Amino acid sequence: MSRLAKSVGITATGQFYPQRIVNNHELAQMVDTSDEWIISRTGIKERRWVEPGVGSSDLGVEALKMALANRGITADDLDAIIACTVTPDMLFPCTAALIQTKVGATKAFGFDLNAACSSFLFGLSTAASMVASGACKRIAVVGCDVMSSIADKKDRNTVVLFGDGAGAVIVEEVEEGLGILDFEQKIDGKGAPHLFMPAGGSLKPATAETVAANEHCIYQNGQEVFKNAVREMAEVSRLMLDRNAIDPKDLKLFVPHQANNRIMEAAAKRLELPLERMANNIMYYANTTSATLPTAMHQSLEAGKVQKGDYVVLAAFGAGFTWGGMLMKWAY
Ligand code: UT7
Repeated sequence: MSRLAKSVGITATGQFYPQRIVNNHELAQMVDTSDEWIISRTGIKERRWVEPGVGSSDLGVEALKMALANRGITADDLDAIIACTVTPDMLFPCTAALIQTKVGATKAFGFDLNAACSSFLFGLSTAASMVASGACKRIAVVGCDVMSSIADKKDRNTVVLFGDGAGAVIVEEVEEGLGILDFEQKIDGKGAPHLFMPAGGSLKPATAETVAANEHCIYQNGQEVFKNAVREMAEVSRLMLDRNAIDPKDLKLFVPHQANNRIMEAAAKRLELPLERMANNIMYYANTTSATLPTAMHQSLEAGKVQKGDYVVLAAFGAGFTWGGMLMKWAY
């Protein structure tokens, strides 16, 4: 029995990464760090960064084109585009508008959704609810971020953690009993001081001084985020399983937000899941924020790790704090 009024799910996925690989050795030339520290504390070996002049919409549109091709439809078959991003090409117009025009989705409306690293999960549940209500037939949810645009290239605490990338999914009605079965979403603004971008918004508009102080970049209290991320991703995933009477051993794939391999493994351990059933792409792509869940799902599908009818749980945690989980029975 689905939480939605109709059976709605993902019917195709796509992904895109920029070509430029930035490995840990390159970062060790920029800040006081080492390949050994980064791998042992985060599991990250390399990440992709865009060349100047490339925005989140450029990555998102390529991921969306792949998802459309995989589904065998055209952009004109879309009713809406939800662009999930914390690094919009610009504050306005929304990145969804830029993607819409680049992909040529002439019949779609759209909007951006920002809930930091939970953006894609919240976007997916929003799209599913819009389809289940009958308001839309087919929606593209695109998670796209150019985290290198807000990474402080002088701060070893954060610059090593993030990468650029995009993932996209198509959401529509699916066979009865398949698709999105349940989801839970949370927000708690008391977490705001632990992960935020100090300047460049309405509260503290960018000035020469804020830019000189790199306040337009990510600030993070890593340890505080770490412990909350482990606890909440594990708890919300457990809730998805318990509420639907699913034994963890029957879960085919756990797809956690890819922020730190130690966080992901700790969450999987709390769920008593073997690590081979956890989607993991952090080693090569780092934390791509809104793109981690769709790319990890796409790569798991490509690797044949998920088949029609398999139970899949997504879990996300990010700035806000925001977090959530989703249970799906894979639809194709
Ligand atoms: O997607 C949004 C959610 N974000 C996350 O989930 C990230 C959560 N946090 C983390 O992943 C981890 O907390 C970090 C990877 C950011 C840091 O790992 P940690 O094991 O918590 O290290 P720490 O913050 O306790 O720092 C330990 C030491 C410090 O040095 P001192 O003060 O002990 O001398 C840091 O300055 O490691 C130092 N350090 C580094 N050293 C070498 C921090 N970053 C680096 C670095 N290279 N890149």
